[in-house]
Amino acid sequence: EEKILVDPYGRKVTGLRISITDRCNLSCMYCHNEGADCCSCGPVGHEMSPELICGIVREAAKFGVSKIKFSGGEPLFRKDFEDILACLPPLKEVSATTNGIMLEKRAKTLKAAGLDRVNVSLDTLNSEKYGKITGAPPGTLEKVIKGIDSAVEAGLTPVKLNMVLLKGINDNEIDDMMDFTRPYKGKVILQLIELMNIAPELSKYTIDSKALEKSLEERASEVRVRHLHHRKKYIINGVEVEFVRPMDNSEFCANCSRLRITADGKLKPCLLVHDNLVDAREAKTPEEIEKLLRLAVSRRRPYYTPIIGIEELEKKRRQEKYIKRSKNKATE
Ligand code: GTP
Ligand code: 5AD
Repeated sequence: EEKILVDPYGRKVTGLRISITDRCNLSCMYCHNEGADCCSCGPVGHEMSPELICGIVREAAKFGVSKIKFSGGEPLFRKDFEDILACLPPLKEVSATTNGIMLEKRAKTLKAAGLDRVNVSLDTLNSEKYGKITGAPPGTLEKVIKGIDSAVEAGLTPVKLNMVLLKGINDNEIDDMMDFTRPYKGKVILQLIELMNIAPELSKYTIDSKALEKSLEERASEVRVRHLHHRKKYIINGVEVEFVRPMDNSEFCANCSRLRITADGKLKPCLLVHDNLVDAREAKTPEEIEKLLRLAVSRRRPYYTPIIGIEELEKKRRQEKYIKRSKNKATE
């Protein structure tokens, strides 16, 4: 039995992205609703217990998974988030993505329970725009900023600020966001995110990513590539800026190393595919969990396939001995 989880395209799974609730106190205009089976799907059933979450992580960790990202909905809606963190096995990195509204009070206890760092959604520094994008009442943006400060203080660093770029709404605020980030002196990273076009009415907000990448490159004193995610990092006037470009990006998919889990315990091979989930809610024994993990991994397929085609990619990878190809399709 192989000691790693590797999909039919040679991509090794080293991370889990676990939604622990689909509850949220925002209603962002672009939300891809990753806690549920699909972006237009209704509320989920029962949320996973800490025992089930930790059971899955423990099993996955035996097969080389070392990074866990908790997301939502808004993960801080789980009052038992600290309990979930406390029952995890040793891992390389445990992080969460939050809207930051409830972070001020929880930052310390989360850190103490084992959370390494957080990403905080922050698309604008303008309260009016913040309200328009997120549907939040006045005063919310101030809470988020307090949350960011507390996270930095508690050592949940580096804190990444997730800024989803929306043409005509916040695409003129990148410099303001860099100015906001700079005083944190490396403890905060600005993460620019290309809008994922999950609904036709969002198309008009899509920015020109190529042009932005070019201008970031011109302004940067240093450019690095995060190979694992195929993301570029720029140092601009002392601020670290990362640009996430998932759309139509075959390299993004080719480097995808994560399996998702919905809030009600379904293993989801790809964020953008909604008909191949594997239900793990009833899994009890480690053997059962392993079988379901392998089934979900066997269903992983790059959403955006490279120009050279999937077969070519596969061949190239085998030649490169990048990762031993899985012979383990038998689980399906
Ligand atoms: P770290 O940078 O390691 O903290 O992870 P991350 O940037 O992926 O985390 P975050 O939750 O902040 O997500 C940033 C952006 O990447 C969001 O827009 C996510 O929706 C997007 N993203 C994360 N995982 C996937 C994925 O599996 N597929 C696609 N297409 N997009 C993803
Ligand atoms: N496109 C890009 N990013 C999105 N997020 C949510 N919906 C979308 C979308 N349609 C991001 C938010 C949040 C993270 C979990 O996902 O920035 O921080």
